Amino acid sequence: MGILDGKKGIIFGALNEQSLAWKVAEAAHKEGAQFTLTNAPMAMRLGEINGLAEKTGSKVIPADATSMEDLNNLFEESMEELGGKLDFILHSIGMSVNVRKKIPYPEMNYEYQHKGWDVSAVSFHKVMQTAWKKDAMNEWGSILALSYIAAQRVFPDYNDMADNKSYLESIARNFGYYFGKEKKVRVNTISQSPTMTTAGIGVTGFGGFLGYADAISPLGNASADDCANYCVSLFSDYTKMVTLQNLFHDGGFSYTGISKEVMDHFIDDKL
Ligand SMILES: NC(=O)c1ccc[n+]([C@@H]2O[C@H](COP(=O)([O-])OP(=O)(O)OC[C@H]3O[C@@H](n4cnc5c(N)ncnc54)[C@H](O)[C@@H]3O)[C@@H](O)[C@H]2O)c1
Repeated sequence: MGILDGKKGIIFGALNEQSLAWKVAEAAHKEGAQFTLTNAPMAMRLGEINGLAEKTGSKVIPADATSMEDLNNLFEESMEELGGKLDFILHSIGMSVNVRKKIPYPEMNYEYQHKGWDVSAVSFHKVMQTAWKKDAMNEWGSILALSYIAAQRVFPDYNDMADNKSYLESIARNFGYYFGKEKKVRVNTISQSPTMTTAGIGVTGFGGFLGYADAISPLGNASADDCANYCVSLFSDYTKMVTLQNLFHDGGFSYTGISKEVMDHFIDDKL
């Protein structure tokens, strides 16, 4: 439909074909957007992002999202490449060393916690601060990050990522106020269903998360492609007045108490 015709942006976090950011890049390209792709230099070594870049006609610019120097360079190069200011940014970044090392939440290692918090949450502030200082966003632009419902409800194996997501959502609201008032730019988070990606699979018992969420949600789990389409709608002019929101994209999971499928597991025939 070309709902992103003429729009320019930066997409963070496409690691491989399963990545949510990868699907967003494909969908945004289909809708007419132009963008640069970025990921941490370490992730680039796998080289898969080059295939996506070729497919979408995008330049790849490595940047560690926790480094202000890398972010400065990324924004400068992106604006040069795209020929002006930006209309959208996708932050699709998450990492927890405590999750990776399977350290239970009560035994949290604070050095690892600090690293994961910086990568998964504070980096969103750093990205927005870079855009703010460079006055890099066009009016009515859209800045988006991806979150998970563990920010509001307890999912024990999600570990310190739950705290990181709460922090991420709070940054979206607080920076979103300033971006709205002064730059007419909106800032939101999308809280996505569990999805089979590299980050997702890293969570202990992820298959259980996925199956439970699917059985509870009236519409079932939202796929990565559906998530990408929702992101595209949030970059488009059809959502100009939506800001400071955490938007559940989860097939109804967040508002469902119980479903017949889950209840059937617990029916006691002897009663
Ligand atoms: N998969 C799920 O179930 C799910 C559900 C809800 C939200 N999310 C969120 O979606 C986002 C994308 O995750 P995904 O599931 O597509 O997994 P993914 O592993 O494909 O993406 C995570 C990305 O973060 C990047 N990254 C890590 N450290 C970085 C750094 N220092 N600088 C720049 N980039 C860095 C990785 O290279 C990778 O590309 C994350 O915020 C994740 O928490 C995922």
